[in-house]
Amino acid sequence: MTVFWADLVKEIWNIDANLTRLDGEYDLNFSLEAERPAILKVMRAGCDEDFIDMQCRALAHLSQHASSLPVPRIIPTLSNALYSKVTGPEGESRILWLQEKVAGKTYANFKPQSLSLIYHLGEVVGELDQAWLNFEHKALNRDFKWNLMSTLWVADELKVVQHPARRLLIEGIVEEYQAILPALKRLKPQAIHNDVNDYNIIVSGSLTQAARVAGLIDLGDMCASPRICNLAISCAYAVLGQAQPEQVLETLIAGYHAKNPLTAHELDLLWPLLKMRLAVSVVNSSIMAKERPDDPYVTISQQPAWQFLEENKVNSELIGVRLKVACGLPISNAAKAVMHWLEAKRGSFAPVLGVDLSDAKARSLSVEMSTIPGNPFHLCAQEAAELGGKYHPDEGIWLGYYNEPRLVYTDKAFRKGEYKASNRRTVHIGVDVFAPAGLAVHSPLAAKVVVSEYRGDNLDYGGMVILSHKTDAGDEFFTLYGHLDPQSIASLTLGQTLTKGEAFASLGNLAGNGGWNPHLHFQLALTTQGIGDDWPGVADPDDLALYHAICPNPAALLNLDEAKTAYEGTQKAEVLAQRKAHFGENLKLTYSEPVMFLRGWRHHLFDEWGRPYLDSYNNVPHVGHAHPRIQKVAAEQLLKMNANTRYLHPAQTAFSQKILSKMPDSLEVCFFVNSGTEANELALRLARAHTGGKDMVTPNHGYHGNTTGVIDVSAYKFNAKGGVGQADWVQLVDIADEYRGRYRSLDAKRAEKYAAQVGDAIDAIEQGGGKLAGFIAETFPSVGGQVIPPKGYLADVYQRIRAAGGVCIADEVQTAFGRLGEYYFAFEQQQVTPDIVVMGKPIGNGHPIGVLVTTREIADSFAQGPEYFSTFGGSNLSCRIGKEVLDIVDDEGLMENARLMGNKLIQGLKQLQKKHDLIGDVRGYGLFIGLDLVTDLATREPATKVADYVKNRMREHRILMGTEGPADNILKIRPPLTIEENDVEMILMVMDQVLEEAQSLLQESS
Ligand SMILES: Cc1ncc(COP(=O)(O)O)c(C=O)c1O
Repeated sequence: MTVFWADLVKEIWNIDANLTRLDGEYDLNFSLEAERPAILKVMRAGCDEDFIDMQCRALAHLSQHASSLPVPRIIPTLSNALYSKVTGPEGESRILWLQEKVAGKTYANFKPQSLSLIYHLGEVVGELDQAWLNFEHKALNRDFKWNLMSTLWVADELKVVQHPARRLLIEGIVEEYQAILPALKRLKPQAIHNDVNDYNIIVSGSLTQAARVAGLIDLGDMCASPRICNLAISCAYAVLGQAQPEQVLETLIAGYHAKNPLTAHELDLLWPLLKMRLAVSVVNSSIMAKERPDDPYVTISQQPAWQFLEENKVNSELIGVRLKVACGLPISNAAKAVMHWLEAKRGSFAPVLGVDLSDAKARSLSVEMSTIPGNPFHLCAQEAAELGGKYHPDEGIWLGYYNEPRLVYTDKAFRKGEYKASNRRTVHIGVDVFAPAGLAVHSPLAAKVVVSEYRGDNLDYGGMVILSHKTDAGDEFFTLYGHLDPQSIASLTLGQTLTKGEAFASLGNLAGNGGWNPHLHFQLALTTQGIGDDWPGVADPDDLALYHAICPNPAALLNLDEAKTAYEGTQKAEVLAQRKAHFGENLKLTYSEPVMFLRGWRHHLFDEWGRPYLDSYNNVPHVGHAHPRIQKVAAEQLLKMNANTRYLHPAQTAFSQKILSKMPDSLEVCFFVNSGTEANELALRLARAHTGGKDMVTPNHGYHGNTTGVIDVSAYKFNAKGGVGQADWVQLVDIADEYRGRYRSLDAKRAEKYAAQVGDAIDAIEQGGGKLAGFIAETFPSVGGQVIPPKGYLADVYQRIRAAGGVCIADEVQTAFGRLGEYYFAFEQQQVTPDIVVMGKPIGNGHPIGVLVTTREIADSFAQGPEYFSTFGGSNLSCRIGKEVLDIVDDEGLMENARLMGNKLIQGLKQLQKKHDLIGDVRGYGLFIGLDLVTDLATREPATKVADYVKNRMREHRILMGTEGPADNILKIRPPLTIEENDVEMILMVMDQVLEEAQSLLQESS
C-alpha cells in the first residue's frame, strides 16, 4: 500500500522517498523521508476538491505575501500544480498534495510554554490573519459547527451535558454569546485558520535557544470569520491547564496586537468568544461520548476545557480592561476623558485634609529606603503603629508615595501562592497622607457616597469610604478613603451627596484604622469594573500596567504635581550600566538576566520590587540574612569603639574561646584575619615557617582565595582560561571524587588509591629537589563539585604528609559551623585532626572575618619571624560579630536544623533522581548538597547546558541556586541554615518541574 503512494510521489513530484503512515481520522497522511522531508496528504475518496484547492491556494498565498511566516510550504508537482488528482488502489478518485515538513514538537508536548513563546504565537497568528486579509476563495464560506459565527447549535444540543451544574454553565456562556452576536456579525469576515490548537502549533527550541513557533499546520477548519474569532480560538487552547491564564491571555493578545492591531471593540468580544469555543468543544465531545461510549479518550479530552470553565480563575469582569491595557489601549474613552479633565482641573480641587499640601514632604516606605518591617514576612503591631515615623507638628503633614514597592504588606492575603517566595502584592497604588488622627477629611469635589463601611481586621482599612464623581462632561470616576475613624462615617448613607469641600469623615486612630500610624489612604479609580467595592490598594509588581491604568496617580486631585507623589526608586538598568562602565569585566554577575536585591531576611532576599526569592545558594549569611542579633551587637559595638588587636579587649578572647570550644584540644592558637583568602595566605606562611619547606600538595580544581599566593594553590583559578598556570612548587593530585573521578564508589580501595597519589606527589617533590611544606585541601571540595571524599581518604593523606615532614591544612571555609548537620567541621567526618584549620565567610554572616586555628608548636615556629599584624583582623567589631554567629548556631539549634532539612532535601532529591535520568548523583551532608547532572547515566557525560538552564529557570521561579564543578554541571545547594520545611518543599516541587522541561529541551537540542 505504502509502495503504491511512494510510486505516485515519484511519478508526480519526481521524489524518491520512504513513506511512513501518520495518524489521521479520514485522510491518509504520510511522512516522507527524502532530501526535503515532507508530508504527503492523500485526501479521502470523494473529498471536495474546492476545499483542497482553498487550502493549497491559502498556503501559496502566504508563500507569496508573507514568506517569513512559519507555515509549511506547498511542494508543487512536476507540472507546477498545487495538488494532483489520481486514481487510488481501489479505483477511487483521490487528491494528493505535498507539504514541507516542519521540524519541532507540538505545542501540547513542548515544555515550558513560556511567556515569550506565547507572545511569539500571538505574533504569528496576528501576522497570519494580516496576510490572509485579502485572500478570497469560495470554499471559505462554510457554515459548519466550528465556525464561531454560527455556534448556536450548542443551545439545541445542551441536553447531552448530563451534569446540571455544567449544563447551567454552558447555558450562561451561550447567553453571553448571544448578546455579542449582533456585534460580531458587524465585523468583517476574512480567511482564518480557525483551529490554532496545541496540536496544530509546531514549536522549536532548545536548552540554549528560545522557543519559537516553527509552524502552524492543518488548515482543515479554515473558514471566513472575523479575525477576533481566530484569536479567541488560539487563546481558548493556550489557557488550558495554565496556572495564570490571565497572564497567558495578555501575552498572546499583546503579541497579536503588535503585528495586527486590534480595536477595543474587538477585544470586548474576546472573552465571550473564548468561552463559547470551549463550550462548543465540550458539547461536541459530549455528543461524541454518547455515540462512542466505549472510547474513554473522548471524555478525557474534555477535561482541561471543563476544568478551565469550572475553576473560573479569570476575573471575567476585569478581563476586558486587562486585554486593552495589554494592547496599550485606553481602558475606555471615558477613562481617557477623565484623566484629561483632572489634568486640566489640577489646582482647583478642595483640599482633602483641609490644608494645602504643596509643601508637604514625602517619606519613603520602600523596599530600598525603609528598614520596616524588620521581618518582611511579618509586620508587627508596633511597626504598623509607627510606620514612617511619628507626626511632628513642625514638619506637618507628610506624604507616602504612589507606585512605591513596600514590604509592609505581610498578611497572607497579599501572597499569591503557597510558598513564602511566591509572588506577593507589594506596590502601593494610592497616595498616603500622614496626619494626626481626628483631622477632617473633605471631598475634593462634588460626590456621591457609594461605599461606607468598617473593615475591622488588623492592618485592614478600618473605616473606608468610596465616593463617585462626575466630570463636567458627565464621565464618572471614583475615589477611595481608607483608615478613617469608623465613628465619623457611621451616619453616611449610600447615595448621599456631598458638596465640593464638604467634610465627611475624620482620620482614624490606631483603634479604628486597622492599627496603622494615622494616615489617609487616598486612591483614584477610573472604573470599578472588576474591582467592585474591594479595590486592591497594593498591586503585584508583575501586574502594574493594569493597575496603573485603573488606579492612576491621584496627584491632580490633591492639587499636586504627579512627580511629587510618584515613587522613583533606583533603576536596575542604571545600576547595571554604571557597573559595566566602572567595574572590571571579570567581576561576574550571576544569571543571564541579572537580579538586584535590596533586602534580606533569614533565607529570603527581596528585589527592588519586593519580590521574594528563596536563597538556597548563599552560605555567607550562615544564620540568615539580616539577623537581628547581629544587627544589635554590630550597632552596639560601633557605638562604643572599634580598634585592633594591639590592645586588650574581652571580645577577642571570648571569640577565640568560643571557636576553640568546638575544636580538638591540640588546636589551641587563633589568628584573626579578614577573609578566607587571608587566612589561607597565613596558613601557607605558617606551614613554611614550621617546616622550612615551600612545596605544597593540593587536589585539582581546588579554591583557596584570590591573592597571588593562594591562587598558586587554587587549580580552579590557575588552570582556568587566562590563569597563571601551575607553579613549580605545587603538586596536583586528583580530587577524590568517587562519582566521576578515576576511582569510583564500587572500588573498595578508592580512598587508598586517591591517597597514594599524594605519596607520588611527595616523591616528585623530593626528586625535583624541593622540600615539602604541606598539604592544603577543602575538606569537602566545593568548587570541585560539592564532593564528599571516601571515608579514610584524609587519614591516609595526612599520615603520608606528616611522615614526609609536612603540615596538613584543612580549608573549612565552606563546610564549618554546623552546615553539615552531623558534623561541626568536615574533618570530623574524615576522622582526622588537621594541623591548621582555615575558616572564613560564614563566621561573619556577611561581615569580613577569617580565622586560622593551629597548634602551639606551629604558632611558635611562626613567632620566630617578624611581628604579625592584620589591622582589621580581630577588630572588636569582628570579634563580637563572629562570636555572636557561633552563639546563634548553638542557641537556635541551626546545626540540627541543617541535619533535618538537609536530610529532607537529600531524600527528596533522591526521589527525583528515580524519576529524572538527568540526575546522575545526589550527594552531600546537611545543607551542603551537590546534584551531578548528566546527559547519559551510563557515560556520566556532564550536562553543563542543563545545569545552566536549571539554574536560570529556578531563578525565574524565585529560587537561587548555583552551578559548580570542572564541567559546571553540578547544582550547588547551600542555603542559610535557617531554611524551613516549606522552602524545602518548594525547591523539590520546582526542581521536578524544571528538570522535566530540561529533559524535554535536551531531546530537542540533540
Ligand atoms: C574553600 C574556600 N576557601 C577560601 C575562600 C576564600 O575566601 P574569601 O573569598 O573570603 O577570601 C573561598 C571563597 O569562596 C572558599 O570557598
